[in-house]
Amino acid sequence: MAATGQKKAKNGIVVDDEIVVDEGEVEAVQAMAGAIVGQIDSATVESAVSTEQAIPEAGKSKATRVRRSAPDEHQMRDAEPKSALEDKNSAVTEDSEAAIAAERAAVQTEAPAAKVNQDAEQQAGDTEPSKTQRIITLAAAASSCVRCDLAQGRTHVVFGDGNPEAPLMIIGEGPGQNEDATGRPFVGRAGVLLDACLKENGISRKHIYITNVVRCRPKLVAAGRVTNRPPTPEEVKACSYWLEETIAVIDPLVILCLGAPSSNAIIHKGFKMTQERGQWFESRFARYAMASWHPAYILRLQGEAYDAARASLVSDIAAARQKVIEAKKEVKLSLF
Ligand code: URA
Repeated sequence: MAATGQKKAKNGIVVDDEIVVDEGEVEAVQAMAGAIVGQIDSATVESAVSTEQAIPEAGKSKATRVRRSAPDEHQMRDAEPKSALEDKNSAVTEDSEAAIAAERAAVQTEAPAAKVNQDAEQQAGDTEPSKTQRIITLAAAASSCVRCDLAQGRTHVVFGDGNPEAPLMIIGEGPGQNEDATGRPFVGRAGVLLDACLKENGISRKHIYITNVVRCRPKLVAAGRVTNRPPTPEEVKACSYWLEETIAVIDPLVILCLGAPSSNAIIHKGFKMTQERGQWFESRFARYAMASWHPAYILRLQGEAYDAARASLVSDIAAARQKVIEAKKEVKLSLF
């Protein structure tokens, strides 16, 4: 989304009428996302963290409400999809060696004596890890998770994707075959549809943080075939630790839930997608939360039903974008 003509804060964050952060900084954060992708060995994480330290932080969230209480239960009642997490591979980003070199050069530059105290203070302030660093650390911990049996059948833990500084978080159901293979969420057919609907609103993955209710692929093995399935309530509960820790780091203003498991976990249990889709709710996880159709469900529809559900997803994303703008204004006003 172009930020042309928008007001910008000193740190490059677009503060009015836009949900995005500065493009240059977003690129930097995206480079870091390469380290978050999938299963991370410790060498990859160390390299990613040291690279990230060379990158100016994209701004700190002013809204620091901590929401950690676990949902009691996660039910999956819904008129909607049971799951269909489809196929397509995607590329993985790379770290910037130039950024590491720049960081080293900057560290080696001598500071004038008069500035020593100021620099010490600055450094003390800089020791607080950025959201990107915290997400990388969390993803590294999740990469060896054995909280539920899904761990046994996974290829990759699919932790999340996008911009950890984003005010809009999208939460889906769980990884499918392609996500399990690549370690990235929403890279199959459902992801392609979601990306298209986001694009119609001028939004790309640079402008959101996206994850799932469960981070390992729920699969069904029957008659020699392996298919995707929805997560069980027990799997959702086991994975709620990672979801809640992730939300606590991202601290989104707005959450858009895709499908029933996410809506049950974030909005309220027993969520009725056909009746409650497209409505705004208060949530302990974000200032505002809304649910929309899961793109995998839309893909199973045909003709007018498909068109209508797709149009609903596009308009729900538009509403979420608008809500971010409003929520940012509310946060700003509440500071005075
Ligand atoms: N569907 C989901 O809910 N999540 C994914 O990551 C992919 C498809």
